[in-house]
Amino acid sequence: MCGIIGYIGKSEAPANLLKGLKKLEYRGYDSAGMAVFDNGRLAVAKTSGKVSALAEKVRAEWPGERFARPPVGIAHTRWATHGSPTSLNAHPHLDASGGIALVHNGIIENYRALRARLEAKGHGFLSETDTEILARLIGEFYSGDIFDAVCGALHQVEGTFGIAVLCAQEPDRIIVARRGSPIVIGVGVDGECVAASDASVLVEHTQRVIYLDDNDAAIVRADGVEIRDLDNVPVTRAVVGLDMAPSAAEKGRFAHFMHKEIHEQPEALANAIRGRLDFTRATAVLSGMGTSPRELSELERVVMVGCGTSLHAGMVGEYAFEDLADIHAEVQQAAEFRYRNPILDRRAFVVAISQSGETADTLAAVREAQQKGAFVMSLCNVVGSTIARETGRGVYLHAGPEISVASTKAFTSQVVVLLMMALKLGRGRRLSREDGLALARAIDGVPALVSRVLEADPAIAAVAERFVEGEHAFYIGRGLMHPVALEGALKLKEISYIHAEGYHAAELKHGPIALLAPGVPVVAVACDVPGKDKTLGNIEECRARGARILGVVTEGDADTIACMDSVLTVPPAHPLVATIPAVVALQLFAYHVARLRGCPIDQPRNLAKSVTVE
Ligand code: G6P
Repeated sequence: MCGIIGYIGKSEAPANLLKGLKKLEYRGYDSAGMAVFDNGRLAVAKTSGKVSALAEKVRAEWPGERFARPPVGIAHTRWATHGSPTSLNAHPHLDASGGIALVHNGIIENYRALRARLEAKGHGFLSETDTEILARLIGEFYSGDIFDAVCGALHQVEGTFGIAVLCAQEPDRIIVARRGSPIVIGVGVDGECVAASDASVLVEHTQRVIYLDDNDAAIVRADGVEIRDLDNVPVTRAVVGLDMAPSAAEKGRFAHFMHKEIHEQPEALANAIRGRLDFTRATAVLSGMGTSPRELSELERVVMVGCGTSLHAGMVGEYAFEDLADIHAEVQQAAEFRYRNPILDRRAFVVAISQSGETADTLAAVREAQQKGAFVMSLCNVVGSTIARETGRGVYLHAGPEISVASTKAFTSQVVVLLMMALKLGRGRRLSREDGLALARAIDGVPALVSRVLEADPAIAAVAERFVEGEHAFYIGRGLMHPVALEGALKLKEISYIHAEGYHAAELKHGPIALLAPGVPVVAVACDVPGKDKTLGNIEECRARGARILGVVTEGDADTIACMDSVLTVPPAHPLVATIPAVVALQLFAYHVARLRGCPIDQPRNLAKSVTVE
């Protein structure tokens, strides 16, 4: 979604801002812009479309060494919410004087009321955005101190914001603030400070960062940072290490981040598993869960919350918790969670699943669960993310930065961590040592299983060639393979724009089968795990209507292979871990279909990597 960067330091601001915007591209956006200090005033460049278009504009309009010192500026990639993705609506937006520029992530919910008040004072607006209203409001509050003006305006705002503000009168500082939308500040090294909505932007400048908490604001200068709350009271926030290599954001030998990340899965999974399996006690060691054996045994329900791919991981977790830990488990779409007034108490174990740790709906679900006294933990990939920090206890995936919008290695890492959590919970309850050990060994073997699937990459690419045409596809599966079908369909639709829907295989005949016509692809996830025989029956129902069946099947399962028109084979596996190789095969399939269709795989239209608005 929208991305923010602010730079103040020693080398030219536009070049640094453009470099930062490039890094933010993966989040998904549809326009971009920047404002820089220029001889006593602010210069603004904005464009619809890509950062490369903005770079061209900057080169053309601001040639040479035109910018005065100190080099300072703010920039933004916008994912349209209020108003279409035009250059007028792109950020930064200016106050009425043109001397204050604002970039903003989030949504100002009371923007209509604020707009009416400003209109009554004679303000006109150039854009359709809620952000321009905030820029004007800051201008209204300005009387010589930009920090005070920002805080004054933010006191009037309902909704969410991560902002960066630049003021022509005070070019030695950038003001940043957050509520519900992340801001992280790279602490000054060699007279240079960078603030951003995403730590991956900072890694090139520093490894020492400060994450702002909600309702924090900061004055960022080239030589340091001052943090206060919105009432101007100083607050202290820890400086933490980033532990992120600059090269993590490079594609290396791959044409797309998605392909690279699919291939990183053996390593990502090994990182997620490392040191967390105890074969002697046949359990998992997940100290971040922060639960004593007694607390674990008193839990009565597991409630997972998440969105998108993370929701699908939770669906696999549901099976694992019920099967291994004999505990009622459910997964809920995070966006609905707080509105349905969930029944929770301290015996409910709420697990927030989020790769980014910033998804607004998942964060809101966490807060609701905490409010109701539930035992809340998180399963995040991004270290220091808001959900990870607010839950306090949790397990990190350690999958490394996931840049491609379509999530791959985070999903498989989420599943493997959920399996370990279920193993731990199970061993504290009724799971036998023997069954626990069998699962621990199976989990330990997951990276090798995935490597085997990746060896089939060229074969999967060849199969994909037969599915490049066509506008619809159905994915079906039962039991544990149902979430696999949903995730496989999600991958295909996200990146290839083929309309793909996942269904429980038995549900097909209650409606969707009406859409089956000769030649329509049905991807049947029919690995050799319990429920397969029933899936085979459902496949016959599709075949009888002329559908083209692509099976995800277990190597050597000749009878099942014979039921398919084409196959993606995966190695045999313990039923609970079999979801992982099956998903990896479908990730590769979706990737190759999209590649052959010439789609912009890493940044699909309209999608965002982390959805920070409700
Ligand atoms: C967006 C992304 C998806 C992701 C979902 C949840 O929609 O495009 O890939 O699964 O958000 O994100 P999270 O970071 O909470 O896992």
